[in-house]
Amino acid sequence: MKFAPAAFVVPSRIRAIAVLADQHPGTLRLFYGEDSLPTPSFIKDAAHQAIDANLTFYTPNAGYPALRHAIADRVLDLHGVEIDPLREVVVTAGGMVALLLACQATVGAGDSAVVLTPLWPNVAAAIRVAGAEAIEVPLALGSEGFKLDFDRIEAAIQPNTRLLALASPGNPTAWTATLDDWRTLLEICERHNLWLLADGVYERIVFDGRVAPSPLSLPGARARTIIAQSFSKTYRMTGWRVGYAIAPPELALAMTNLQEFVVSHAPGIAQEAARVALIEGEPFILESQARYARHRQIALDRFRTMPGVTVPEPTGAFYVYPRLEGLADSYDFCRYLVEQKKVGLAPGNAFGQGGEGHIRLCFAVEEEILREALDRFEAGWDAYRQGQ
Ligand SMILES: Cc1ncc(COP(=O)(O)O)c(C=O)c1O
Repeated sequence: MKFAPAAFVVPSRIRAIAVLADQHPGTLRLFYGEDSLPTPSFIKDAAHQAIDANLTFYTPNAGYPALRHAIADRVLDLHGVEIDPLREVVVTAGGMVALLLACQATVGAGDSAVVLTPLWPNVAAAIRVAGAEAIEVPLALGSEGFKLDFDRIEAAIQPNTRLLALASPGNPTAWTATLDDWRTLLEICERHNLWLLADGVYERIVFDGRVAPSPLSLPGARARTIIAQSFSKTYRMTGWRVGYAIAPPELALAMTNLQEFVVSHAPGIAQEAARVALIEGEPFILESQARYARHRQIALDRFRTMPGVTVPEPTGAFYVYPRLEGLADSYDFCRYLVEQKKVGLAPGNAFGQGGEGHIRLCFAVEEEILREALDRFEAGWDAYRQGQ
């Protein structure tokens, strides 16, 4: 029997390491991008109340209006931009669905999209699932860390390119775009008439300031910018499946209509919990930022002492993404680490071009786990290098 092209989507290598870890009990799980602590109580309490209030029914495709108003209020607070909650905000079943709907509504067969890598593989996969080609352009890694290579980006754009996609803060790079970076990217998009898909799911996990810069705040950006957002990372709500997109009204409507045929809508109970998270969550975010800053330092201090390891300083998100000298197959190394040292990390080659030779460690885990994982990693790296 014949399969559709979408059936040939390449499985995530991060998942493959997770599956391997399940077969090796006791493996420390630092491969996924999530905190090892559960959702905070004030959000869980809101969900209990939502159940008692019978928010158990279908919701509008674009989400409850009350949540969309809360999102618009927070966007105004963080980025100084007024958006129309009912015409420009689509609540989605997680950030993944925001990205998927954005791709489905803007690219299709015969089109291409430029994706700045290394990047969480699901973005390029969403482009391919929509039937388009994903053209990867790697960030440049210099002595100061990662940065954008604008000439290379512009050179990669083809006549059929419709979209430019990137995440800031980035996963796995933990690099953050400045407002000037966004301005130049926007100019490129204007010159080539492209949509700008800006994934901001880590915008509240930053080590300098309250929020990462967003293209939303640039004049003229709104007409061609799609923001993909999530409650997963900021509020430790990965399993709740609630995120949102901000897009110009016509595109937001198209994404709303599409969502009906993908998941209909985000779960109502999770939407209400997300609303309370937005309204009451600022002190929690401050605590998380301080905790992640401590963990980042622990990881950096250790990696910097290890031979053959170069580690760019993360400016956002909760990852370190060291480069390992001479590492030719990061998937093989990560498999080795699980099987021999019981520590699970994500292989750099899971993240597209420019990813090979790196591994990604998520430091959003309890401190003892992080320290133990770093010990196991160091022993594994020493042994693996000697065996190479
Ligand atoms: C860059 C990036 N975007 C989007 C997502 C999707 O988040 P979720 O679907 O859990 O909301 C993730 C999750 O790892 C991510 O790293």
